Amino acid sequence: MAKQTIRDFDASGLRVLVRVDFNVPQTKDGKVSDDRRIRAALPTLNYLLDHGAALILVSHLGRPTGDPTTDAYFTLDLVAARLQELIGRSVIKVNDTVGDEAKSACSSLVPGGIVVLENVRFNKGEKKGDPAFAAQLAGLADAYVNDAFGTCHRDEASMVAVPEKFPAGRRAIGFLVEKELQILDTLLKNPKSPMVAVMGGAKVSDKIGVIENLLPKIDHLLVGGAMTYTFLKAQGHGTGKSRVEADKLDVAKHLLDLAGQKLVLPVDHLVAESLDVGAKTMVVEGSDIPEGWLGLDIGPKTAVLYGNIIKAAGTVIWNGPMGKFEDEPYRQGTIKIAEAMASSPAVTVVGGGETAEAVEEFGFADKMSHVSTGGGAFLESLEGKSFNSLKVIPDR
Ligand code: 3PG
Repeated sequence: MAKQTIRDFDASGLRVLVRVDFNVPQTKDGKVSDDRRIRAALPTLNYLLDHGAALILVSHLGRPTGDPTTDAYFTLDLVAARLQELIGRSVIKVNDTVGDEAKSACSSLVPGGIVVLENVRFNKGEKKGDPAFAAQLAGLADAYVNDAFGTCHRDEASMVAVPEKFPAGRRAIGFLVEKELQILDTLLKNPKSPMVAVMGGAKVSDKIGVIENLLPKIDHLLVGGAMTYTFLKAQGHGTGKSRVEADKLDVAKHLLDLAGQKLVLPVDHLVAESLDVGAKTMVVEGSDIPEGWLGLDIGPKTAVLYGNIIKAAGTVIWNGPMGKFEDEPYRQGTIKIAEAMASSPAVTVVGGGETAEAVEEFGFADKMSHVSTGGGAFLESLEGKSFNSLKVIPDR
């Protein structure tokens, strides 16, 4: 059922609390190193501003622990500065979320004004979903908008208890959440076939729910990343020094049985003697990794095999890099998959923090049908889970 969106209420003259996900990476020298999530919220923010609203923006950043020394890094100062550059309007950043400074900045907002509150996770009440904290936050605004797709799987106060404080007619999702939900809905209910899932990353255990939910809908599951070696070990192959989840071999066997011919494992591997920079590498064919070596990327034959399947697909979903892509020698597999998706006529959807980062870094983001802003939220959606943060937004 479609959710009420910002098109469904008149925002003119309202102070709208927009829950955004500005949980973005920052460099030590004080720069936002990937502003995709900020840019992705701009259509909603600009729409509300163009319709006469004032904005109160709420986000978390990282996972602050309550230790003031380490938490200082998680302030939203840099994010607010980057937003100001991107949106081309002045942005007032306040140093608390619900205290006097926040109240005074929000009460004096006029249409077109933008306030960014401090990291909402600096307040213990956020994680706990505390109703008293939620009431304070909600008290700053007249309406609520959820445009934080990346956080939709969390039940934190600003995602669930805060929207519950607003009348049903004053709660909505923004354009980013609407778009992400529409794409996921089509992927899961009405995909163009053949449908291919490309799954990489380190752990089979992170992907069990996704694989189980996707298997009945997909034609091929192409496996890469370190989880390959847990599958190979479960099949009785040698894995050398490769990373293996020794306690998940039964899970891997269960998935292999369930998937049958659909699950495709690499036919060759780029292996190294160690993780050290400059370590000796070679390509190994077949399914056995020699003793003393560890697999760090899919090999060239696998890249061609997977690329051909991707190019013949109707839909491709990709989550998880094919190798240790952050290190130059082990990124070719991930690049080749991105290239194949970029040149495929299929509907191509990429999700998950690292995968989206790789696609952006290697220059393929604009060539995909969609790059999700969700990490955990994207994966949990693929698992078929529903979110409380969306249940509290009325249907249209
Ligand atoms: C994410 O990056 O996946 C979201 O911002 C949620 O962050 P969290 O995993 O710290 O809740």
